Amino acid sequence: MTTSMLKLMFPLLFLSMILSKNANAEFELWCVADEQTTDTELQAALDWACGKGGANCSKIQQNQPCYFPNTLKDHASYAFNSYFQKLKHDGGSCFFRGAAITTEVDPSHGSCQYDFIP
Ligand SMILES: *[C@@H]1O[C@H](CO)[C@@H](O)[C@H](O)[C@H]1NC(C)=O
Repeated sequence: MTTSMLKLMFPLLFLSMILSKNANAEFELWCVADEQTTDTELQAALDWACGKGGANCSKIQQNQPCYFPNTLKDHASYAFNSYFQKLKHDGGSCFFRGAAITTEVDPSHGSCQYDFIP
C-alpha cells in the first residue's frame, strides 16, 4: 500500500466511524395523539394514561404550563408522552389502541416542556 493511499484511507476510516456511531444512535422520540383518532377514543386513552397508566398529568391541569392549548388532542399528547417516557424502557409502548403515534419533533412549546428520557 502506498503512502498516498494510506493518507486517503485514514480520514475515510475516521469519517465512517463517526457516521456509523450516529447511525446507531437512537432517534429521540416523543409520543403524541394521532390526528386520526376520534375524541371518544382519545378521551378513553387519556383517562387510562392519567389513571392506571401512571402518566404524570399534573402539567395539563388548570393553571399548569401545559393546560393551554386546552384541547383533548394536546392534553392526550402530553399524557401519552409522559407515560411513554416513563415506561419505554420497561415495555411501555406508544400505542394506546392506535390513538398515539411517535414523532421525532419535540412537542414542547413555551413553558410547556414535554418529558424526554434518554
Ligand atoms: C409530576 O410532575 C410534577 C411536575 O413536573 C412534579 O412536581 C411531581 O413530583 C410529579 N409527580 C410524580 C408522582 O412523579
